[in-house]
Amino acid sequence: MKVEKERALQEHRLRFGHEGLIYAAPARVNLIGEHTDYTGGLVMPMAIDFKTIAVVSGRQDGLAVFYSANYEEEVSFEIASLARAASGRWSDYPAGVLWSLLEAGISMAGCNVSLMGNVPLGAGLSSSASIEVATAMALLGHSGIELPLEKVATLCRRAENEYVGAKSGIMDQFVVAGAVAHRAMLLDCRSLSFELLPLPDQVRVVICNSMVKHAVATGEYGNRRDEVEVGQDILRRERPGIELLRDATLEDLEVCKGKMTEESFSRCRHIITENERVLDARKALLDGDMGKFGELMVLAHESMRDDFAASCPEIDGLVRIAMEQQSCFGARITGGGFGGCTVNVVRADKAERFVETLKREYSTSTGIQAECFVCEPSDGALELAAKGGA
Ligand code: GLA
Repeated sequence: MKVEKERALQEHRLRFGHEGLIYAAPARVNLIGEHTDYTGGLVMPMAIDFKTIAVVSGRQDGLAVFYSANYEEEVSFEIASLARAASGRWSDYPAGVLWSLLEAGISMAGCNVSLMGNVPLGAGLSSSASIEVATAMALLGHSGIELPLEKVATLCRRAENEYVGAKSGIMDQFVVAGAVAHRAMLLDCRSLSFELLPLPDQVRVVICNSMVKHAVATGEYGNRRDEVEVGQDILRRERPGIELLRDATLEDLEVCKGKMTEESFSRCRHIITENERVLDARKALLDGDMGKFGELMVLAHESMRDDFAASCPEIDGLVRIAMEQQSCFGARITGGGFGGCTVNVVRADKAERFVETLKREYSTSTGIQAECFVCEPSDGALELAAKGGA
């Protein structure tokens, strides 16, 4: 981390001729609670130690200049006349955050922002929220403004929904901004209240990238969301007291079965049962019952696969191989779906062995070399001290 920090500061100095303030935002993995966030439901993500680093300094000409070290590209915007105009490129994320802050009435002076990161792209680990939150921290820091966590997350979500054009929920931005090391976060996506939950020392979280690309901004994620919203609208209309799918029970859904398509019915059933599984998973963690926690992860996977139709054969294969190993408590697809990563909770002392077997057997059955990461729950976004420190 220290080396990256020095490099980021130095690159910024060389490019822009100024010392900068430096911020970092992590990536995230979701342990359980998938596709529940945009209907006010429950999620249990944690931050992981991949990072986007943002360095910011001032300039006098009223421009916001964003430089991506990963893409080796610089893009400029006139702050006073910034319009909502997505280009489909990396710069939509920082420009979208700038747009969202300006829309919220936050005034912004000219600035240089350089970004660099190591979050795998298209893997379902929230590279987009990581860039958004790092940029927001940098822009707010540059303006000397401190905002509460939920405000930062909400502004970044707005950037993603309205500027980038991805209809995602609040989970990613919230946990990337507000996570705490050694803890998973149980987030209520309606009230934005949260609880930090300990993971036992004897387990590790292993993320396995199937290398099948997933993209939230295109296609299937939006389709699923539409199917869910149609079902939610019907429930709201037919059953008094239901505002969001979060309020519905399986009985409510059954009553409305004849009024919605099979797809909407199954998508809503996934979400209603998933909210229950998150609560059960919370209890299992508090009881230290990792066997139960693992069972719930597998049930959550099956529900994502069968009811939400958001898995794929490669990911199903990874979950099957994982669950054949005794060291694995539970495995499931994580993130938006349609590829990306699995999350596995395994015995700490067997984690390396688990990874070796998973990679070998996946490669034998698919010919694909998976990437695996043994993770610890990390801190959310931080300002890094310019000298020494983290
Ligand atoms: C993506 C979105 C999140 C959430 C997940 C699915 O990561 O960005 O808001 O909907 O998919 O749980």
